[in-house]
Amino acid sequence: MINVHEASQFLETIIREAGALSLEYRKELKTIRVEQKATDRDIVTEADQAVESFLRKEIGEKYPDHAVLGEEEGETGSSPCRWIIDPIDGTIAFLHGQYQYSVSIALEVEGRTELAAVFAPALNDLFTARRGKGAFLNGTPLHVSDTEKIGDAVFASGFPCIRAGMKETNLPLFSEMMMHIRDFRRGGSAALELCFVASGQQDGYWEKHIEIYDVAAGILMVEEAGGQVSDYRGGREGLPTEVLATNGRIHRQSLDVIRPFTSSR
Ligand code: IPD
Ligand code: CA
Ligand code: CA
Repeated sequence: MINVHEASQFLETIIREAGALSLEYRKELKTIRVEQKATDRDIVTEADQAVESFLRKEIGEKYPDHAVLGEEEGETGSSPCRWIIDPIDGTIAFLHGQYQYSVSIALEVEGRTELAAVFAPALNDLFTARRGKGAFLNGTPLHVSDTEKIGDAVFASGFPCIRAGMKETNLPLFSEMMMHIRDFRRGGSAALELCFVASGQQDGYWEKHIEIYDVAAGILMVEEAGGQVSDYRGGREGLPTEVLATNGRIHRQSLDVIRPFTSSR
């Protein structure tokens, strides 16, 4: 149905080109067009829109029958092969001239992610994964950390619920986690946080109220690097809305902290 090897080469080419396009906009941040989305602090820049339309054009030319789900333009087409795109994950980091933003793309075949790529253009770091074949950073195989205790772990998370004005924020859980972990990082791109778990730079990541395009690629990255990904109860039914990703060794310890903060589903 699809030649996955060929698709992975195509994916690497277009994600690098998309990243290069974002870097052009990054030179003009003072004058970039910024629009408000549905909620107060949710914004989109012309770079987000341009990168998504570039990717849609490339995918449409190469695979005209495939479906595409992108953050900015929604879902188009219907096919067992679906490209899931976050054109700029970490728009706030991007807009503030920070390094930690990414282009994130996953290819799903019959509902299962087969390929993933996350590119951090300002760092020139390309994370890739293929189901059953491992995860890589710039071609070098990745493995999660071997941290055994949550007390020795560095975690990351995010707070979109606050931006969306939701009642259930991540703050009580954040306060509790801080009592158990070694330290915390907040880079601003969920896709990259997951890549950092895959590469062992971080031991874990949790976030709720997240969308599939934020994490589809990153989840495969963690799993292919030997880590574990679940919802807040340890299952998969709550994915991708709530995500706990760890090196596996500290997954149960993390769930013990998180579980009391799970609302009923
Ligand atoms: C956001 C980033 C952020 C996460 C938010 C996402 P965006 O994506 O991934 O790290 O905390 O949940 O919405 O809006 O920059 O594409
Ligand atoms: Ca995102
Ligand atoms: Ca985005």
